[in-house]
Amino acid sequence: MRTEVVEGCASRRQALGRTFHVANLALTHRSHLSRRAWDELAHAGCFCSQPYGSVEFQDARQRLDFKGWIPWQEITNVLCLAAGGGQQSALFASLGYRVTVVDISPAQLRVDQSVAQGNGFEIQCVEGDMLGIDRLFGRHFDLVYQPISAHYAHDVRQMYRGIYRVVRPGGYYWVEHWSPFQMQLASIGRWESQAYHLVEPQGRGVPLPWLVTHEPSSYLPSIGWHHVHTLSDLIGGLCKAGFRVLRFAEREQSNIAAAPGSEAHLAAYIPPFFAVFGQKPGDNGKIACGAQE
Ligand SMILES: C[S@@+](CC[C@H](N)C(=O)[O-])C[C@H]1O[C@@H](n2cnc3c(N)ncnc32)[C@H](O)[C@@H]1O
Repeated sequence: MRTEVVEGCASRRQALGRTFHVANLALTHRSHLSRRAWDELAHAGCFCSQPYGSVEFQDARQRLDFKGWIPWQEITNVLCLAAGGGQQSALFASLGYRVTVVDISPAQLRVDQSVAQGNGFEIQCVEGDMLGIDRLFGRHFDLVYQPISAHYAHDVRQMYRGIYRVVRPGGYYWVEHWSPFQMQLASIGRWESQAYHLVEPQGRGVPLPWLVTHEPSSYLPSIGWHHVHTLSDLIGGLCKAGFRVLRFAEREQSNIAAAPGSEAHLAAYIPPFFAVFGQKPGDNGKIACGAQE
């Protein structure tokens, strides 16, 4: 058994956390725990729950779309999925788009509500699981935008199928994932003997628990769950759901000269995040991508 406690969550990577093995829990119970963990992170003012404001609004497009893929002129209404925390929803709203945000954590959604009120935006906040967006079926978004979060879902293929249903024909899906290879690293001593050590298997098996606490002495930490999806599911699953993959890119934030074991050094071996841009075929089956890199 191995463990790492996330305290204070100073960076996005830290908020994504590390893990140790325990027995399976019922899925509903896992979702409940994930909500509790994110509520706590939001209350603690985690990096992922810091509301954006006028400074971030100035370069909203670049922040949302670091590769310049989104055809902004084709978009009116956006679904930000598993994206609470007053960041992505606020950026889209600042650009004048109609925004709905879904998140499992009421505390994360309260940040979106408060940013909306503070800036005179209209943001529809929906509490729910990214694996069960049935109540949105019948709505058709021009763009579904999902920041790093799919590793909290036990079945990414099921998630993609739901998303496909709420994208309009010809509409888009922008998603960023945490590299499964980074999740496979040893929590303790990941860099040893001049090498990074991958110790966790991939696949649809037992998830990795993720401990979240801010006051370790006062109460037991919350547990969230991480799922180490395969690339077959993360990328191939998009095609299986019906999307055409238009673009793929990894974040470039590495520094081989940084201290071995640090995030920047690790990124030179395993880029931490990758984004995929997909399109649902139009009614005539056509793909019309105006996005330029
Ligand atoms: C890393 S944050 C991403 C959004 C954040 N604004 C950011 O960019 O850092 C992950 C988000 O996923 C949400 N989340 C976790 N599990 C979820 C689930 N099963 N369904 C919906 N949202 C979920 C969390 O509450 C959290 O707001």
